[in-house]
Amino acid sequence: SLTEVSPVGFTDQRELNPALLPLDWLVGTWESDVPGKGVFPTITPFRYTETLHFSHVGQPILNFTFNAFHVESKMPLHRECGFIRMQPETNKVAFIIAQNSGLVEIEEGELKGQQLNLQTHALARISFAKEPHVKQISRLFQLRPDGKLEQTVSMATDNQSMMQHLHITYCRS
Ligand code: HEM
Repeated sequence: SLTEVSPVGFTDQRELNPALLPLDWLVGTWESDVPGKGVFPTITPFRYTETLHFSHVGQPILNFTFNAFHVESKMPLHRECGFIRMQPETNKVAFIIAQNSGLVEIEEGELKGQQLNLQTHALARISFAKEPHVKQISRLFQLRPDGKLEQTVSMATDNQSMMQHLHITYCRS
């Protein structure tokens, strides 16, 4: 059985819900092995580190938190958290995501082996969100043969068509 120690301190030793077995390769804590790369035509390229945590409490749902940090100062930057649902009998996956930038989104996609391709299904933001506004997001999570997890994020904004914003690899910690 999988053991989860939650941020609030309780230990949960429930079995992973069988509905989530196709996603068992995500469960646990992942840390960027080398700094991730951030790019976009309208910004100065940057680097960041990130910790991902995927956990469960026995429901057919994964919980996740993604916390990114400044490489040198280690100050918190971008943060996201949410839930992952899988449609029983299909390989359809939904991410329900809240971002500290004021964005909330639902991304949906299909699981193919240990590769998860997601696209924005719905998106909303706070009324005073900074411009340019994001219009569309796509992500690829991939467990590589060397055991590293890889995330690639592309986005389209008011001013730019779909372009890569982030690329990062993680090791299990
Ligand atoms: C810039 C969206 C994740 C760091 C931006 C911009 C947008 C955006 C719309 C402004 C682009 C422009 O000015 O044309 C997103 C979305 C994310 C995401 C939708 C997740 C799906 C991250 C992460 C980091 C990050 C994980 C890690 C630190 C930055 C930085 C800039 C930026 C440093 C440039 C400075 C700034 O304008 O604040 N992002 N971002 N972003 N993003 Fe992200």
